[in-house]
Amino acid sequence: MANYLVTGVAGFIGSHVAERLIERGDSVRGVDSFTNYYARSLKEKNLSGLMENHRFVLDELDLSTSDLDSVLKDVDAVCHLAAQAGVRASWGRSFETYTDCNITATQRLLEACKERSLARFVYASSSSVYGDTDDLPMREGGTTRPVSPYGVTKLAGEHLAVLYHRNYRLPTVSLRFFTVYGPRQRPDMAFNRFISAALSGRPIEVYGDGRQTRDFTFIDDIVDGVVSALEKGPPGEVFNLGGGSRVSLNEAIDTLERVMGMKIERLHGASQKGDVRDTLADSSKARAELGFAPSVGLEEGLAREFEWLRSL
Ligand code: UGA
Repeated sequence: MANYLVTGVAGFIGSHVAERLIERGDSVRGVDSFTNYYARSLKEKNLSGLMENHRFVLDELDLSTSDLDSVLKDVDAVCHLAAQAGVRASWGRSFETYTDCNITATQRLLEACKERSLARFVYASSSSVYGDTDDLPMREGGTTRPVSPYGVTKLAGEHLAVLYHRNYRLPTVSLRFFTVYGPRQRPDMAFNRFISAALSGRPIEVYGDGRQTRDFTFIDDIVDGVVSALEKGPPGEVFNLGGGSRVSLNEAIDTLERVMGMKIERLHGASQKGDVRDTLADSSKARAELGFAPSVGLEEGLAREFEWLRSL
């Protein structure tokens, strides 16, 4: 059984990954700085199933400033999910938070790991590193030209991970997640906002014409990909993890109406700076090398996110 460091453990993806590792008998040291991007109470709720477990330890610290040696003690592999997320909020003064959390924190963690004999260092990258392209599906070797400051910081982190592999043989593996959804999805993300609004009888705001498309990926499928990368990801490599459910936002809302059994009132607002028009992953490399086989379709995944939000 291994001892994992999971950063961003109180977040949407981090809490699910930690639970999976604990369930299968591993130990997890979780790190989170509880940034104020969204409510601390939601993050504490994400952790509620973990806190009682004797194989789980939580450290509240900021990766961009804290000493990291103590948290890395006896760690076999690192799963670095901590980040300042959110594409549309990364302009203006808040960019500094993105550089601190996504670049400086990643560089500091890589530095602290470089002389250790870790089995893996998995880095959470993003589909937003690609930017706008007509060359779909997006392939790992394709052009990366982010259209949001957030995407720039995630791409910088990814480059750093590759550099520490080349120069220090740190076994880094980067995973480009494609719009992840499901229970515990962040409250700023589309489906959480839409379901919450509909549950309280409010209209939703669709940015732009709603014809933008996303390769939505269900959380359990992402966790499968992360765990597999921690075990057998080829060092120095980058992988797309996409769910294979590419639909337009309008189609996704139609599906949500069926799942919720109600009409959702749609207001159209301006399209947002930093949003890419379309995403679609070519996940064949992850399938071949990580055994990645997403199995939850959009309707089932939305039903599970709806059940979660309804039960809160
Ligand atoms: C998501 C995450 O928020 C990023 O952190 C992640 O890096 C990225 O996926 C990724 O794939 O790499 P995004 O695709 O913008 O980013 O996900 P959502 O927030 O779920 O938005 C999906 C679409 O719905 C976007 O076109 C957005 O503009 C739209 N939207 C969102 C609305 O029309 N209305 C809203 O209230 C919220």
